[in-house]
Amino acid sequence: MACLEVQGITKRFGGLVANHNISFAVRRGEILGLIGPNGAGKSTLFDVITGYYRPEAGEVRFDNHRLVGRRPDQVNRLGIGRTFQKLRPFNAMTVLENVMVAAMQHRADPLAARGEALRYLEFVELADKRDSFARDLSTGQRKRLELARAMATRPRLLLLDEVTGGVDQRTIPTLLQLIGRLREQGLTLVVIEHNMRVIMSISDRIVALHLGEVIADGPPSEVVKERRLIEAYLGDTFVVPSGGARASGDGLRGAGEGRA
Ligand SMILES: Nc1ncnc2c1ncn2[C@@H]1O[C@H](COP(=O)(O)OP(=O)(O)OP(=O)(O)O)[C@@H](O)[C@H]1O
Ligand SMILES: [Mg+2]
Repeated sequence: MACLEVQGITKRFGGLVANHNISFAVRRGEILGLIGPNGAGKSTLFDVITGYYRPEAGEVRFDNHRLVGRRPDQVNRLGIGRTFQKLRPFNAMTVLENVMVAAMQHRADPLAARGEALRYLEFVELADKRDSFARDLSTGQRKRLELARAMATRPRLLLLDEVTGGVDQRTIPTLLQLIGRLREQGLTLVVIEHNMRVIMSISDRIVALHLGEVIADGPPSEVVKERRLIEAYLGDTFVVPSGGARASGDGLRGAGEGRA
């Protein structure tokens, strides 16, 4: 059953069409990978879903609520959490305070919010950094802080924008384990990710965007063979190596990296 339905979304910036008539559904409990080259419109779509941008056309439905026209905080209260590609922690606050601010959306009592924030920091393995300032964290640690902040708003659907972008390669397995554990807890996830090996391994289904349009939608093993996707990344000279998703995942990997 669909948890989120994106229906005919069009979002323009002046003459530039960042999202053009985008439609797809996210099923409850799945991990949906959202891929596409730089500028494909992925982050813009997250901004439309979560109320940061109002689209010129289309609707987004979440558990039968219409989302277009709602403010970000209202969308969040309905149960959609997100992280941002450009990290935005409160740098002058400690790690714990950052998560407490998010937890207080649901808990007015600071002590209760503190306890809850600590639990989420433990979950992302950042509890030992609770008293550090957010500005002193490494990129990988900040990504985990973002995750804890998003979780502290208690979402049922979580939108993750480039969780592994700019992160030390050695930290990636930890982040992927966290994503797996979130799903085990019953969350539905939409994950934007440039690392093809990562996205192919964690996604149940993949939606690919190019120039603001959906060019592929299906299981990873099918999507990776989609000619339009291969062309979008590498031009029409690229041939899918035999051996399926993994081999071509390696081939595609790196096409859009480096702008985290
Ligand atoms: N606020 C804005 N004003 C004008 N143009 C914008 C704005 N935000 C995004 N764009 C443009 O819209 C298009 C889609 O951008 P978007 O950030 O959604 O792409 P993306 O798929 O997330 O790319 P990346 O992988 O680089 O993060 C790009 O051409 C971008 O320059
Ligand atoms: Mg983006």
